[in-house]
Amino acid sequence: MQLFIDTAKVDEIRTAADWGILDGVTTNPTHIAATGRPFEDVLREIFSIVDGPISVETVSLDAEGIVAEGRAIARFHPNAVVKVPVMIEGLKAVKRLSTENIRTNVTLCFSATQAFLAAKAGATYISPFIHRKELAGDDGMVFVRQIRAIYDRYGYKTKILAASIRTVKEVLDCLLAGADVCTMPFDMLQALYKHSMTDAGLAMFLDDWKKVPPAKLFTEAHAGVH
Ligand code: G3P
Repeated sequence: MQLFIDTAKVDEIRTAADWGILDGVTTNPTHIAATGRPFEDVLREIFSIVDGPISVETVSLDAEGIVAEGRAIARFHPNAVVKVPVMIEGLKAVKRLSTENIRTNVTLCFSATQAFLAAKAGATYISPFIHRKELAGDDGMVFVRQIRAIYDRYGYKTKILAASIRTVKEVLDCLLAGADVCTMPFDMLQALYKHSMTDAGLAMFLDDWKKVPPAKLFTEAHAGVH
């Protein structure tokens, strides 16, 4: 499963990219607004940090407008993916963009039938909103499993990009349910690494290491001796 970061904050993107586990980025109008910076400046910087799919959202409500914005996003950088809300005008635009070989990410998906329609329209990615579904009393894992079953049963190539992730368990659920990608905020990426028993175990190992006589192998390594 690929890991994307869901933010437009370049310092967070740079840090996560430096960890070596980041495959891409998803942004949305809320993330762009939170930076307080010009749209194009933020995009330019994100594209310079991550060499992977980067979703940029359209804001028009009619297919003509979405297609025009989508083409502009696609021209901006070869790694750009056009993010389009799942609605009739949005899916009309996705159909047209897909025939122009422009990659799309259909967002704000809250039902498996919406995911089915996005796949029929030729979407590259579908973004089911897991945590917001859970907040509404639904089971996020069942949701992803339904989409996985539909896509596998009918051979749709659209990738499941699980979004709106707020807990480690939701990431685990996505892994087990067969999501292709999971996008999450920076603090969630950090949380995937953390375990109190790892911290406690490491503290014990390092404490015991103090009892070992100076290790030439390591002192030479730190000194750059080959
Ligand atoms: O960017 C789409 C989505 O991941 C945002 O979800 O619920 O974290 O605001 P949320």
